[in-house]
Amino acid sequence: MKLRIINGPNLNLLGKREPEIYGGHSFEEYFKELQSKFGNIELSYIQSNVEGELITYIQEAATDCDGVILNAAAYTHTSVGIGDAVAAIEIPVVEVHISNTFSRESFRHQSYISAHAKGVILGFGLQSYDLAIQSFL
Ligand code: DQA
Repeated sequence: MKLRIINGPNLNLLGKREPEIYGGHSFEEYFKELQSKFGNIELSYIQSNVEGELITYIQEAATDCDGVILNAAAYTHTSVGIGDAVAAIEIPVVEVHISNTFSRESFRHQSYISAHAKGVILGFGLQSYDLAIQSFL
């Protein structure tokens, strides 16, 4: 099985960025752990701070992956375009968030992605990604 993790804006700063919310590990470190834990899955990972690039990555994943794990970060709450991209593709998309967005500011309670996602996993720290992978198994 081929799964692609697509991370949105500022997630390249994990480990340095607001560690009390997002933890002290970089995503690159954590991704290595995921790869060794799920050796039977072909996992790939890509990150962008640019909305249009994320839309392209979602469209591309649909042509060569079995599923997407998407943390669109702040664009979750603003991007009709990313929501439309998730709705447009045939493969399942699991929306993830590191933090529990519902326990934070009210603007984070809105998601343009959730309605089109297979499911949503949030609030378990980086482990949200692990749980999302398990949901595909
Ligand atoms: C986030 C939650 C978003 O509200 C925020 O803008 C992020 C990260 C999370 O993983 O908890 O950048 O998606």
